Parts: sequence; C-alpha cells; structure tokens
Amino acid sequence: MTDEELDRDPLFRYEQPIFADEDLLKITHIPGPERIVGRDQHMQEVADALNPAIFGQEPTHLFVFGKTGTGKTLTSRSVSERVVTEAARGDTRVSTVFVDCGEQNTEASVIKTIARRINDPNRTGFTVPERGLATGDYYTRLWKVLDSCTDVVIIILDEIDMLQDDEVLRKLSRAGENRRISSSNIGIIGISNKIDFPEQLTERVKSSFAHDELVCPPYDANQLREILEHRRDAFQEGVLTDDVIPLTAALAAQEHGDARKAIDILRNAGRLATRNGDDQVTAEHVHAAKEKTEADRFAELIDGAPTQAKLILYALTHLTESHSESEFSTKKIFKAYRTLAETLDVKPLSERRVQEILKEQDFLNVIQSERRGRGRGRGMYATHRLLEDAPIVKRVLQRDSRLSEIGE
Ligand SMILES: Nc1ncnc2c1ncn2[C@@H]1O[C@H](COP(=O)(O)OP(=O)(O)OP(=O)(O)O)[C@@H](O)[C@H]1O
Ligand SMILES: [Mg+2]
Repeated sequence: MTDEELDRDPLFRYEQPIFADEDLLKITHIPGPERIVGRDQHMQEVADALNPAIFGQEPTHLFVFGKTGTGKTLTSRSVSERVVTEAARGDTRVSTVFVDCGEQNTEASVIKTIARRINDPNRTGFTVPERGLATGDYYTRLWKVLDSCTDVVIIILDEIDMLQDDEVLRKLSRAGENRRISSSNIGIIGISNKIDFPEQLTERVKSSFAHDELVCPPYDANQLREILEHRRDAFQEGVLTDDVIPLTAALAAQEHGDARKAIDILRNAGRLATRNGDDQVTAEHVHAAKEKTEADRFAELIDGAPTQAKLILYALTHLTESHSESEFSTKKIFKAYRTLAETLDVKPLSERRVQEILKEQDFLNVIQSERRGRGRGRGMYATHRLLEDAPIVKRVLQRDSRLSEIGE
C-alpha cells in the first residue's frame, strides 16, 4: 500500500467496482444526439420552431407536453444547445436559459433568473441584484440585458404549469411587439406534464401567445432498452449481468414507458450493488431498485402537489382504508373530501374541479381511473383507486403540515 492509501479514512470506500461514470445516469445529463433514441421527429419539430434563431430572428414559441420521463426536457435542451452552436458559426449570439418553474414560480423570480443568467456587466454597466428590486424594475433591466448581451434568447420554462400566474408569459411573448426590446428576440419553450395546461391559461394569454405544440408519447420496451444500452458505459465493463437491461426496460415499460424511471432503476440497482459490496449488478438488485425508485418518485409527485390535490388524495386514502373495496366513484371521493376540507377550514372546491384534479392525478400515475357504464342508456361514471398502498400514501401526505393535523 502507498502512504496515501494508508492515510485514508477506513469509514469510506475508495474503489468504484460498479460504476465507471455514474453521472451519465443523472437526470440533468444531456446525452449526445447519437444517444437519443426515437425522438428524431420531435427533435426536428423543436428545430423547426427554433430555426429562425440561427439568423438572429424570432423563433416560434412552443409548448411540449407528455407524461413523465418521455424526453420533454431532454429534447428541448438538446436542440436548444445545438441552435447556440450553429448560430455562433454565423456570428449570431443565441443564449438559452433554463427555468425550473417548480422553483422559480413567481413572475419576479422568473424575470430575475433570466436577467441574471444573460447579463454581462461589461456590456450593460449594471448588475442584476438577487433581491431588492420591484418586479417592474427587473423587467426594465431584463429588456436592457437582452438588447445588449444577446441576439436571441431561448427561454425554457420547465414545469410551466407550476407558475403562480401567466402574466410573465404574456409580457415575454409581447416584448418585441411592444418595443420593450429592439435588437433582440425571444423564443419560449413551455414544458408540462399536464395535458390540459393550455386550458388553464387566462384568456389574455391564450389570445396573445401564438405557439406550436408538440406531444411526446411514452416509449416502448425496445426503445427503453436502447436508451439504457446507450448508458451502459456508466458501469464498469462486465458488471451488468445479461438480464439487467432487458429486465429494467420491461419493468419501466409496464405501466407507461418512462425513461426517467428506467434510468433511475438502473442507477439505484448499481447503488444497491455498491452498498452491498457485490461485484455484479443482477436481476435481484433491479427488483429491489424498482421498489425504491417507485416509492421515491411517488413521494416526489405527491410532495409537489397543491394542498387541495393532497386533500382529495387523502379522502381517497381514507376511503380505501375504511372499506373492503379499493375503487370509488368521483361522487364518493368528493363527499369525503368535502368533509375533510370543512374539518380543516379549507374552502372546498367544486365537484367538477375535484373531478379534474382526479384526472390529473390519473395522468401522473398517482391513481388509476376508469370509466364505467351504469347499464344500458344510463350514462357513464368514473371510479378511482390508489396505485400505492394506502398507508404509504398516507405517510407521504402527512408530511404536509396542514394534513398532519387530521390525525387518524
Ligand atoms: N429518447 C431518449 N433517449 C435517451 N435518453 C432519454 C430519452 N428520453 C429521455 N431520456 C432520459 O430519461 C430521463 C428523463 O427524460 P426527461 O427529463 O427529458 O423527461 P421529461 O419528459 O422531462 O419528464 P418529467 O415530466 O418527469 O420532467 C433523462 O435522464 C433523459 O436523459
Ligand atoms: Mg422534465
């Protein structure tokens, strides 16, 4: 052993027998175009919308929809980066700003994020402070920043449905028309996993925000397998047993073809093997990793939901625990929800809105909804059931301080 090795703290591990480059499995990693599977058509459509940027002109705004893990963020980021490179060859300055609206959910914070990212104080002669300016002043600086520092800015608003209000969309999309900016252009890519997001926009925005739309469908098992094959080099050679990638792809394809889940399972399987000191990743690691990945993702989805949605889920959880069946009609859930809302002094939503939220949760795979017939000519109704065990759902919901008051 060398001196350096002798000095090492025995509490930690220094060898990486499983992973060669775990970063390749990070959600923020953007694989090269040759590693992106089954999205040629989608990339082309994003490219068509952004194409004018290469010549310094205004891109077409774009909304990208699709379920979780269908490559919405990846295709948007990947094509935007390629636009920047291509434009630079002709001396056009294109900048991209990625805004996670789950974190930057107010008008001021979105504007500030964009201005800070693009600002070059040597050109503008000012800085954009982290706090302290009124929203209007942040806008004023942003317009100056854009005209001085760039020709075109591509603004990716990821999880755009999390924005508190859509005024920022209207102002950004109208900046040129209203002469706020004169020598630069703005292109917006809004990304969402809410199918009905455009319907939620206010009329003012709906009428002013001309855009194209793109839908990313789920992947099939073969595509997922190929996506994982392209990340095989995240692992040391020979570490993955033959069945690991096909099994991971099959498991992720089962509910809906979610590449995020496939990659997360593979990474968690590798981590489990590392922790156990095993020298190979096997099917057993994959099965265990699937459980963990689903629990994590589920918790993340629920944590991010608004309180009203959590209350509705809580009502469904309560019904599930107190009945022998597991499927309940919208009406039944609505009644249980209303009682709960009253107990907590929360203003209850209408039955219609509750129905919409249940539909969203179905789309996010938190619950599963089905339409059923009442019998000949008597119309249809929907039933809903939890996709996870009730006690698990309850535990996650109770992490919200408002819901923890309910007790048993
Ligand atoms: N076609 C693809 N080829 C290769 N990797 C992919 C592909 N699609 C997605 N991935 C990978 O899967 C993961 C999830 O993709 P991405 O973040 O783009 O999904 P998303 O649609 O934005 O999901 P969410 O709605 O949950 O944010 C990322 O690690 C991404 O690199
Ligand atoms: Mg995304």
